[in-house]
Amino acid sequence: MSNQDKIFPVPDDFAKNALIDDTLYQKMYQASIDDPDAFWGEHGKRLSWSKQYTKVKDVSWSKENLHVNWFSDGELNVSYNCIDRHLKDKADQIAIIWEGDDPNKSENITFAQLHRRVCRFANVLKSMGVQKGDRVTIYLPMIPEAAYAMLACARIGAIHSIVFAGFSAEALAGRINDCRSSVIITADEGLRGSKSVPLKKNVDEAVKHALGVDKILVVENTGNPVSMKGGRDIWWHEAATGVDEFCEPVAMKAEDPLFILYTSGSTGQPKGVLHTTGGYLVWASMTHEYVFDYKPGDIYWCTADVGWVTGHSYIVYGPLANAATTLMFEGVPTYPDASRFWNVVDKHKVNIFYTAPTAIRALMGQGEDFVKKTSRKSLRLLGSVGEPINPEAWEWYYKVVGDSRCPIVDTWWQTETGGIMISPLPGATPLKPGSATRPFFGIKPELVDSEGVVLEGATEGNLVISDSWPGQMRTVYGDHQRFKDTYFSAYPGKYFTGDGCRRDEDGYYWITGRVDDVINVSGHRMGTAEVESALVAHDLVSEAAVVGYPHDVKGQGIYAYVTLSAGNDGTPELAKDLVNWVRAEIGPIASPDKIQFAPGLPKTRSGKIMRRILRKIAEDEFSNLGDTSTLADPEVVDDLIENRQNKK
Ligand code: WTA
Repeated sequence: MSNQDKIFPVPDDFAKNALIDDTLYQKMYQASIDDPDAFWGEHGKRLSWSKQYTKVKDVSWSKENLHVNWFSDGELNVSYNCIDRHLKDKADQIAIIWEGDDPNKSENITFAQLHRRVCRFANVLKSMGVQKGDRVTIYLPMIPEAAYAMLACARIGAIHSIVFAGFSAEALAGRINDCRSSVIITADEGLRGSKSVPLKKNVDEAVKHALGVDKILVVENTGNPVSMKGGRDIWWHEAATGVDEFCEPVAMKAEDPLFILYTSGSTGQPKGVLHTTGGYLVWASMTHEYVFDYKPGDIYWCTADVGWVTGHSYIVYGPLANAATTLMFEGVPTYPDASRFWNVVDKHKVNIFYTAPTAIRALMGQGEDFVKKTSRKSLRLLGSVGEPINPEAWEWYYKVVGDSRCPIVDTWWQTETGGIMISPLPGATPLKPGSATRPFFGIKPELVDSEGVVLEGATEGNLVISDSWPGQMRTVYGDHQRFKDTYFSAYPGKYFTGDGCRRDEDGYYWITGRVDDVINVSGHRMGTAEVESALVAHDLVSEAAVVGYPHDVKGQGIYAYVTLSAGNDGTPELAKDLVNWVRAEIGPIASPDKIQFAPGLPKTRSGKIMRRILRKIAEDEFSNLGDTSTLADPEVVDDLIENRQNKK
């Protein structure tokens, strides 16, 4: 029997206390599909609205009139929902446990403290001239100020755009320009695995190419000297001195924007995914509660970075809306050693732990001892996100980390979906390693073939969602046409996810990976087009094609075929230069793992690069390249095979 046939039933102990069992799941799921207005009308009440909504769903996915509105006549404030409303009963409960990169540093922040700090932050932003609707770029490491900054923006109605602190100055500049953000919040430096990251320096570099940045607010983090420009750069601790610790939350319309988050697609530059206020928060908080079976008192830890959507929805907004205690970790899983995650679990008595398959595979490679010497008794639920989890890693996570006691929720979702879409509910769903299992409430997944024909039963196809849910993105910031083209043109009337998927005979979904030109490197989305345009921006490169290939730890690695301009040699030194070049253009996460210099790339007679062939060669699976007769110059393929970098 293969791993994939194994079924792990809901443990009895878990089922007894779970929020949702299978009968309730079936009943609620059916209700959510039969009458979305009634279902979401009811569940929208989990938030505190300053003006109660009377409308629930107002959505059209038609080409002519694409719009997505939920709870549109209601008003609320996200920061009020994540903080103020908990103060009556939970002022002294810990809201955020911050664990530093240095294992001797941590801090507990209560809801009362969080309230004061977020208010202060909001007042500082106001004093800098930030107003409702303004875009604020946040380029911060995993320090509590990142959460304060997000919630402060939400409090005054400013739209935050967080740029992952691992992105380069160049990438940061592109994102600042795209949303025309005039304020940036950053820190002197970040700290990861005891290495410092020059954040302020990157910002200084970025604003040389970003027009219209008036103010840079700088949090002192490592304390190492950085240059500060008078009139533009402001130290947070100086600006915050003596500032009022109360700030009135602004009533926002449900469809007012909450944040922009840039993500990679198959074409062009990253797009600004826009999420709004009401529907997003309903979705983030409800999925957080039910998927993680969250109950008051639980200590919950999501290891993501706030620079990614997982950090937005499942470190900050979802958990805090539910008054959860959420742990925020500055460091990396292998510093000071590969026991770090489990030491942190023991130190803070973490009950629910949510991480990515790439971290699990990396730790698996370090051996069991790093896990087994820790207790982990507090854990009761494990989660996975970001990429397909291979059954071997799943079983290691289940047996070695969870001592065969804790269910694993393999959660499939995307930046665009705002929150979890397909996932087990741990008290309801028997698990199959490698399967994200069943849809969350309100989600109607369908598999279609390339013609858009809906496939029934056990089958494989492209994953689409056939109706809206409250957490879905509303548009691409500043480019509604791109929103239409990217998500609603391949299969009119349906949202196309870009993922391939299999459905088995039990109706379980198995995500097979991207079917577009996006690769998933360590759970991070990277557009092959972005890496290609970075490469061709180098003086010596005339053409580049980038594909993914299977990588033991990262899931997928980046394989770049590079054609140099005439007269240049593809030396190992140049290959190294190109890797560094891409790091500087985009960031370390985009570093090519392999560079193959190629005199020519396989193209059709009309000049289109045949990526299928390049993928097969990168995977070392070139014995069956399919039809190459349409190539303009079939000989280039022989050279590519001869000089491939991934020889088994
Ligand atoms: C992939 C991350 C398989 C998928 C939340 C999706 C997954 C892309 C899973 C979105 C999972 C995410 N199983 N694949 N559990 N979760 N993916 O926008 O290809 O960074 O389209 O959002 O990650 O990545 P994003």
